[in-house]
Amino acid sequence: MELLLEQLIYPIFVKDGINDKEEVCSMPGVYRFSLSALIGEIKRLKGLGLNKFLIFGIPRKKDINGTSAYSADNIVSRAIEIIKKNISDIIIFSDICLCAYTTHGHCGILNKENGIDLDLTLDVLSKIALNHARAGADYVAPSAMAKGQVRAIREVLDTYGYRGVKIMGYSVKFASSAYGPFREIADSSPRFGDRRAYQLDYKDKENALSYIESDIMSGADILMVKPALWFLDIVSEAKKKFNKVLAVYNVSGEYLMVKKAVESRYCNEKNMVCEIMSSFKRAGADYIITYHAKDIAEWRME
Ligand code: PBG
Ligand code: ZN
Repeated sequence: MELLLEQLIYPIFVKDGINDKEEVCSMPGVYRFSLSALIGEIKRLKGLGLNKFLIFGIPRKKDINGTSAYSADNIVSRAIEIIKKNISDIIIFSDICLCAYTTHGHCGILNKENGIDLDLTLDVLSKIALNHARAGADYVAPSAMAKGQVRAIREVLDTYGYRGVKIMGYSVKFASSAYGPFREIADSSPRFGDRRAYQLDYKDKENALSYIESDIMSGADILMVKPALWFLDIVSEAKKKFNKVLAVYNVSGEYLMVKKAVESRYCNEKNMVCEIMSSFKRAGADYIITYHAKDIAEWRME
């Protein structure tokens, strides 16, 4: 079972209002790019054989309702437009969420009790998705874990003539300690409370599988399990039970664990990353979203 570069999806961060790029210490080797630096980086990675990218945005300004996520000039739409104009044969996935855009750092619009207002949140997520579709996204990937997000987005995309834009559902997203480094780079930590009200309990396998089923029923084109490494039982069972196109998200904390182990000099990075990628494939993943993609592509050129 050989790993193909076409199976890798590389997450990439674009930040409004900066020049060039900035490294964030929570994730060695991962950067926030300015718009212009992003194009250069994606061209370079395309040259190494990567053709799938998942784009996250960091806005200039946050507010309570995350309006900069769906304003006409939102940073991710601008990035997608420029990428699509300048680079051919490339598949763009865009993250659909609010946590980087809201002052409170939660993934939805809050109600008076500081819970998620589901209707308002679904409206806003659909607006973001429509904007990204207009800009040229191939896949939109709602990660807010708002119940019904896939169906709501599918309906809006169809209504406005974007039947061809596909959806990757964050079908099973566990509330996990492994997201910390990402929240630092995306500047998306909740300012109070946590995300356990809308992310899944990692002890609950049956519930996890039922979320996959409901994303299938809602029309998701790719299903996903996140995090990846210590949830391979779920991946494997989901693949066996539903036999649909399945992605795993090898998240920031998993990446950092490898980088720190390698830094200790007791572990060999290439071998370790190879073993990990192989475990995803064995479990049944068709696509692997991973920050290691850049290193893997570079190693192949050596
Ligand atoms: C939330 C979101 C998360 C990640 C991507 N989008 C999780 C969270 O902050 O709860 C995590 C990705 C990673 O850790 O690599 N919209
Ligand atoms: Zn979020």
